[in-house]
Amino acid sequence: MKPVKITSNFEVFDSLEELPEAIQALMEKAFEARDKAYAPYSQFKVGAAIALDNNETITGSNQENASYPSGLCAERTAIYYAGAKYPEAKVQNIAISVRSMKHKVETPVPPCGACRQALVEYEVKQESEIIVYFMGESGQVMKANSIKDLLPLIFDKSTL
Ligand code: THU
Repeated sequence: MKPVKITSNFEVFDSLEELPEAIQALMEKAFEARDKAYAPYSQFKVGAAIALDNNETITGSNQENASYPSGLCAERTAIYYAGAKYPEAKVQNIAISVRSMKHKVETPVPPCGACRQALVEYEVKQESEIIVYFMGESGQVMKANSIKDLLPLIFDKSTL
């Protein structure tokens, strides 16, 4: 037996204002998308904004369904839209923000496991890291320089 230790790196910012203006603007687009989410069942709205290397920005929000598993998270709505609209473009940054209709979320909320798996597919496809910024409704922002920091043991095409 040989123990294996895997470390992940994150950066924590006390507020959005500490980040570069371009990232603040991207997060503002995530806020706008978040507030347009269709989340009547969970009352939990999520918005994602993706900056592509062709200077386009794609946004997405969670879309719920009366048949609960048929709904889709904001991050996957956005990344699949980006992949469908600009299949050749590379994703540089994704900004994510959440807002609960029930209580104030002031701590960073990372993407769920299924979204991490969807996002890492594109990181592998484009052969370059996707930088992730995530936050609550307000407060601290966390930054990961790769999806692999959120999902260290990836399942990808190399195993098929
Ligand atoms: N949700 C997202 O949009 N992204 C995540 O990473 C986690 C969860 C959505 C799904 C559902 O509509 C609501 O948040 C509550 O789980």
